[in-house]
Amino acid sequence: MVRDLPAWVEVDLDAFASNLRWIRGRLGRDVRIHLVVKADAYGHGAAAIARVAREENVHSLGVATLHEGIELRREGSDLPIIILSPTLPNEAGAIVDNRLVPTVGNPETANALSDLSRAAGTRTPVHVEVDTGMGRSGIAPGEAVAFCTGLDRLPGIELAGLYTHFPKADAPEGAPMVRRQLADFRRIADAVRDAGIDPGLLHAANSAAVMLQSESWLDMVRPGILAYGLTPSEAVPPPPELTPVMRFVSRIVHLRELPPGHPVSYGGDFVSPERMRIGTAAVGYGHGYPYALSGRGYALLRGRRVPILGRVTMDTTVFDLRGVPEARLGDEIVLFGRQGDETIRAGDLAALAGTLHYEVLIGIGRRVPRVYTRTGRSVGVRSLLGMEHSSPSPTTGE
Ligand SMILES: Cc1ncc(COP(=O)(O)O)c(C=O)c1O
Repeated sequence: MVRDLPAWVEVDLDAFASNLRWIRGRLGRDVRIHLVVKADAYGHGAAAIARVAREENVHSLGVATLHEGIELRREGSDLPIIILSPTLPNEAGAIVDNRLVPTVGNPETANALSDLSRAAGTRTPVHVEVDTGMGRSGIAPGEAVAFCTGLDRLPGIELAGLYTHFPKADAPEGAPMVRRQLADFRRIADAVRDAGIDPGLLHAANSAAVMLQSESWLDMVRPGILAYGLTPSEAVPPPPELTPVMRFVSRIVHLRELPPGHPVSYGGDFVSPERMRIGTAAVGYGHGYPYALSGRGYALLRGRRVPILGRVTMDTTVFDLRGVPEARLGDEIVLFGRQGDETIRAGDLAALAGTLHYEVLIGIGRRVPRVYTRTGRSVGVRSLLGMEHSSPSPTTGE
């Protein structure tokens, strides 16, 4: 099936499962794993990732928006789904209907949730974020006890968790700030308990803190990027046990010999200095291959690096094939991931494009089918046409 695709993302579900097991081994049994699957599981495809996460005893899934939560429910995920971004009162009905667990940061949303939950004959678990230094969302530390006390009086909701977030856990110089945030957070949790309220699960650690700050693990950790096989920044060296889950692959769909002096792509920024062979790959910024790689990125073809010529366009990108004279029409070209003995990391592309590896992963749009593999064989494809399952068949080779 992969043979028919001009561009695809390969998602190695075994690598993902093994990364989760490695994280589990690092944490020990008592710490729950809340897997962050927002933005379509960082581009990997939330439904398939959620299924494996369930097999691997992940406690709960984290999304950013109501609609991501609804989509996961519709796709059959029955784990608790926490919405990690703030929620608005008008979202309360859909939250209750879909049994989602919102982060509540204002009384209006709390009241709406309580009323609608009561009307539905249920109680909705909620989490409260306390801002100990992120400065993005969350209740101010001085207001946390009063806010939790207010929630406790509402009959239709129940406080299931209290959390905070670290802005600098991925840099060694951020360690003192993490320690200070953690101390504040523990104090706030104690104060909530002293007010006679059970704060539920305490959680704080993102991937960086899973790697670097064991004292922050508390009841539950919230890794995202680590489970997908990458570390949050260059300052956190990747443990050898982790494997990147995603490869981004396209195909050469056009081959040409250019005469000397021929411009390539929009703007003609590159002009062939000599007679040269070029290859056009069926991938562009419309697939999420960053435009900022124009004239500076590279990919892997037959295990060798081939530079991008000129500008990345919406649907295609031209590569210099002078170093790979044996290239053929239909050849796989790896935009990031391994091919032969060479690897391009998502972080390498991100550095060249002046962005984050997170953005590179998440930027790969729905236009690009996700091909899921287990033990090296395709087990399903998610494309714009929906999810197809296949009987195992080779995903690479001809
Ligand atoms: C609140 C929260 N927790 C956890 C994460 C996971 O972060 P990471 O992918 O760095 O582990 C995020 C991601 O941005 C987040 O916003």
